[in-house]
Amino acid sequence: MKKTIAVLPGDGIGPEVVGSALRVLDQLAEQFNHQFDYTFADIGGCAVDQHENPLPDQTLDVCRQSDAIILGAVGGPKWDQLAPEMRPEKGLLKLRKELQLFANLRPVTCFESLLDASPLKPERIKGVDFIIVRELTGGIYFGEPRERKGEGSDELAIDTLTYTRHEIERIVRKGFELAQVRRGKVTSVDKANVLESSRLWREVVERVAADYPDVSYEHMLVDNAAMQLIRQPAYFDVVVTENMFGDILSDEASMLTGSLGMLPSASLSAVGPSLYEPIHGSAPDIAGTNKANPLATISSVAMLLKYEFGLEEEARVLDEAVSAVLESGVRTADLAKEGEAQASTDEVTDEVIKQLNHIRV
Ligand code: NAD
Ligand code: IPM
Ligand code: MN
Repeated sequence: MKKTIAVLPGDGIGPEVVGSALRVLDQLAEQFNHQFDYTFADIGGCAVDQHENPLPDQTLDVCRQSDAIILGAVGGPKWDQLAPEMRPEKGLLKLRKELQLFANLRPVTCFESLLDASPLKPERIKGVDFIIVRELTGGIYFGEPRERKGEGSDELAIDTLTYTRHEIERIVRKGFELAQVRRGKVTSVDKANVLESSRLWREVVERVAADYPDVSYEHMLVDNAAMQLIRQPAYFDVVVTENMFGDILSDEASMLTGSLGMLPSASLSAVGPSLYEPIHGSAPDIAGTNKANPLATISSVAMLLKYEFGLEEEARVLDEAVSAVLESGVRTADLAKEGEAQASTDEVTDEVIKQLNHIRV
């Protein structure tokens, strides 16, 4: 198979973890006889520095012309004081909107070999395997107006939370479709006791659910959901929710697996190529130190192979290699036990490649 991939390393640890993921992808391509051609492009703070724009047109063009997109992370203290339009994060948000990346899938899988890495008790997280389906192009991230008012613009700040029926329906359908091929259970998370947008969300869920009689579903308020994710994480199968709730709950859920550095994601487009990125950020505190956990990005590549290119076998082999690395006890600092050896980003990547070599097909 011959495919083109847009590669957007971004800022902080972005280039480090993306570098790892590409080394792994090259190895897989060789083993399975595929050709993946990469086109690199700037996004975020590095794009501000180079082009005075967090999402240059050229980057958008490269993405549109590719079969899939890999992204590292954007942002960092260097750019935190810039005007809202110039912020690195704005580049990522614009990219999501422009490419209509409305469905962000964030699987949360607890590896048996990492049961000791989570702050939660092993018996609580054993067997945890759910997916957060986060709406990614609507809600308070994009609603208008978004402004400051008053003298000196420091008297009043306004953000707006809107959802159309269409936006809700397409993400909820995605959740039900996923439940059909998983364990058949949807938990829709909202704040319908307070928010009008959540009340519309609930109505849409009820209507959509009627089309999926084989899937059971429930509504859960987001504050309760935040608690239940810790109390009984193995209870969940598919969690479908709006943009900001999904952002927050997924960082929380990452600690069930042991680290934020473990969670991959796929941002599926309604119209064109989709984007694959770890859920974590640019981790300025460890950037440039070869300490970042590359597994979230490597697992995002497995999602890319499966969802974008239909390469199920390749994705399975890569997931197995990641699992084998964890079983071998090689861990970056975020996962390592106190007093135990901490592997570098490069060493973990080497291990994944070594395991791929073992799982010869
Ligand atoms: P963060 O996710 O970058 O880091 C939070 C903590 O987790 C840090 O201590 C960091 O060292 C650790 N961490 C994150 N990824 C790790 C990995 N792969 N391996 C080991 N440790 C890891 O969140 P933050 O510090 O709140 O934000 C830093 C910057 O990243 C901000 O500018 C923020 O806007 C941006 N950000 C970008 C994205 C994205 O590009 N998708 C996502 C989240 C945050
Ligand atoms: C994420 C990040 C982004 C978000 C930021 C950087 C805009 O936290 O991808 O989870 O909030 O969506
Ligand atoms: Mn986030």
